Amino acid sequence: MHILFVGDVVGSPGRDMVHEYVPKLKEKYRPHVTIINGENAAGGKGITEKIYRGFLEVGAQAVTLGNHTWDNREIFEFIDDAKYLVRPANFPADNPGKGMVYLKFNQVEIAVISLQGRTFMPTIDCPFKKADELVTEARERTPFIFVDMHAEATSEKQAMGWYLDGRVSAVIGTHTHVQTADERILPGGTGYLSDVGMTGPYDGILGVEREAVLKRFITSLPSRFEVPKEGRAQLSAVRIELDGKTGFAKKMERILINDDHPFYS
Ligand SMILES: [Fe+2]
Ligand SMILES: [Fe+2]
Repeated sequence: MHILFVGDVVGSPGRDMVHEYVPKLKEKYRPHVTIINGENAAGGKGITEKIYRGFLEVGAQAVTLGNHTWDNREIFEFIDDAKYLVRPANFPADNPGKGMVYLKFNQVEIAVISLQGRTFMPTIDCPFKKADELVTEARERTPFIFVDMHAEATSEKQAMGWYLDGRVSAVIGTHTHVQTADERILPGGTGYLSDVGMTGPYDGILGVEREAVLKRFITSLPSRFEVPKEGRAQLSAVRIELDGKTGFAKKMERILINDDHPFYS
């Protein structure tokens, strides 16, 4: 079993990168399952049904979200019908949508779980307790369990990696939009990466037009954050090979595609 996971897609530059490179990455690496984090896919804020469907059409089997889940109001109209859309599981219990989905490849099931951290982020339910609940449930069906840990603090992501080591296939961080170089297989067999990085504008600040971000830092005055519509873009991803029997990680490779790290097929 082989998973390709693409990090936070930001706006149209990010979507264009997905549509250009996901087919190439699929051809090169032949993943069985492709997952995309789409929390910033609609102009940096949330996702629309059209974008979600576009990701499935380009070859993703699941789309994960994060703290921007509710930013585009259209989400409320389609989230309950979107079978492969995964929002953080530790949102309040009666929120729309779901925090875990099962995908099927041949006869094999893979559980995809989204969790959100609480350090320097909005207060929500405990991601560790929610992880216990969902992982216990999933392990009764399958050893293949992928966790998108959407969090600000590296410490909280590492904590989740160690907490779930030996119980899930991989814990991969999202949200900070900068790819970290700490991919490893923990002693219990869980693949871990603090952050997979962002797919979107390469010359902005975390995918946002840099002038507005600079203005806010320098003047402390409010400024409107927009995703640049033009300019260079990048794609950030990771691929994880899992043992076909145990579901644990055997090999991991970070993928970064931009003008400084060109893609070779
Ligand atoms: Fe994000
Ligand atoms: Fe986020």
